[in-house]
Amino acid sequence: MFHNKHLTVFFIGFGLLSSIGGLSACKFSVVINQELSLEGFHRNLTYKITIGTLVNEASPQVFPYTDCVIGLFQSLPSGIYTNNDELSELKRVNRLNAISKKTNIELPADQAEPLNAYIVKKLYGPKTTTWLPVHARYHRASVGGGYALNDIEPPQLYMRCPDNRLDVCEQPFKPAKFLCNAREKCSWKEIPFQLYSDTPLTWSVPVGDLNHYYTVAVVTGTTVTLGSLYLLLTLINFKFILAF
Ligand SMILES: *[C@@H]1O[C@H](CO)[C@@H](O)[C@H](O)[C@H]1NC(C)=O
Repeated sequence: MFHNKHLTVFFIGFGLLSSIGGLSACKFSVVINQELSLEGFHRNLTYKITIGTLVNEASPQVFPYTDCVIGLFQSLPSGIYTNNDELSELKRVNRLNAISKKTNIELPADQAEPLNAYIVKKLYGPKTTTWLPVHARYHRASVGGGYALNDIEPPQLYMRCPDNRLDVCEQPFKPAKFLCNAREKCSWKEIPFQLYSDTPLTWSVPVGDLNHYYTVAVVTGTTVTLGSLYLLLTLINFKFILAF
């Protein structure tokens, strides 16, 4: 009887402790810095992610989410794409774990579909950086030319831990289920975060000027015609010389 009482107290205590422990696994806040680096038609969409924890105030050097994995879901407007083959190669050499659907990289922006990319990264500490190589599609030349603006949306952030310790987290962590490897679906939690970036993050791509285009076409055409004429005359001369 005496024993049982102790056991009960023990179990209640244990239950309370583990639920508090479980709940505290949900106490963190995330900041993402989303930037575009490099210039030109091939750029680097970079995410600097900081996870602030309130869990281990006593020993802040211990990061409680080591070995947890984050998933970033990035949708791209039709003027921007990621190259599936390039991502496979980056994965093969262990530089980046990201996938996207196959897309025709030759299509101009107005014929292309928006594209989604998905990046996975293991956590080793409160700060992590990941990225996506992004490319601009050509925009059809228009009269006057100028710039086409491509707005890049913020990503969606998901997280999962090997021991499912995030399963107990409720609001505002929405559950999600999707592929975590080639075969099986896993449970993830969608994680709210604070975004630091220019909003919206805009990539302006130069558009050819149709007026210039006609000028270029006329100049090119004239040059080619004159060049061919010259070649023809040379050939005729050459034959002429040979004949003698
Ligand atoms: C993009 O930026 C990240 C983070 O700075 C870096 O690790 C990566 O190598 C860069 N990629 C390219 C292609 O420059």
